[in-house]
Amino acid sequence: MASALAGGGRVVFLTGAGVSAESGVPTFRGADGYWTVGSRVYRPQELATRAAFQTMPDEVWRWYLFRRTACRGAEPNPAHRALVDAERELGDRFLLVTQNVDGLHLRAGSSLGRTYQIHGNIDFMRCAGAHEGELVPIPPEVPAVQQEDPFPEEARALLVCPRCTGRTRPHVLWFDEYYDEALYRFESSLVAAAGASVLVTAGTAGATNLPNQMVAAALRAGALLVDINPDESPFARAAEDAGGLWLRGPASVELPRVARAVAAAIRAG
Ligand code: OAD
Repeated sequence: MASALAGGGRVVFLTGAGVSAESGVPTFRGADGYWTVGSRVYRPQELATRAAFQTMPDEVWRWYLFRRTACRGAEPNPAHRALVDAERELGDRFLLVTQNVDGLHLRAGSSLGRTYQIHGNIDFMRCAGAHEGELVPIPPEVPAVQQEDPFPEEARALLVCPRCTGRTRPHVLWFDEYYDEALYRFESSLVAAAGASVLVTAGTAGATNLPNQMVAAALRAGALLVDINPDESPFARAAEDAGGLWLRGPASVELPRVARAVAAAIRAG
């Protein structure tokens, strides 16, 4: 760690659903994951699409409001807090890129400026029409939705664009959409990975496009790759193949350890 950081480069942390699993937020591909268990009526992968939203917006909103309810009921865990400490220690040498839409990193205290939410944030909505680039917090009056609840009719008048009163959509990246810079920090994340001295991946199955590109870019540039995951993943294998580390424990244990090691290396350097 110390030699990787000696040149003064940045430490980029890339987190996935495993980091929030210990807060009680289901993962996507685990046994109780969203993509495994599904919604009341539709297969979840079908719901997480622009095409589904165009034909059944209420059902799509219902599913995201249900997931949002689960996220709001969760609290940050030691993995989230370790990253807050790391940011405090590292300042501009720290960057957090998260696939999680649950907002738990920000609620723990990570700064918005150094947290790229590359799949969006479930607490925000955007105009589904002309003002798509503007994020709007979901109004607090929007009710909680439990697994079997129907779409709450009283939410209809609240889930509207404040500028044009048209329909809004959740601020999340869907399967039939592309990453971009303005909404999802696509280029910035790649540039950060390519310039990182250390890339720490935690709690992710390595199944999505931008994270894979980030790992490849970091390795090409000679970064040290550290993966945290109790189970094997492409990132664990890539780390081991490239002379990095695969830490096989839960994020709530391993992220604080890594954050402490990084802080110690920076102080010593
Ligand atoms: P997945 O559900 O695909 O993978 C979660 C990973 O976390 C698995 O590899 C688990 O082994 C690991 N894991 C579980 N518990 C853990 C713990 N306590 N500590 C550390 N690791 C643990 O979730 P992601 O990789 O985040 O995208 O999924 C990436 C994206 O795929 C999601 O953001 C979502 C989904 O499609 C969108 O919705 C756009």
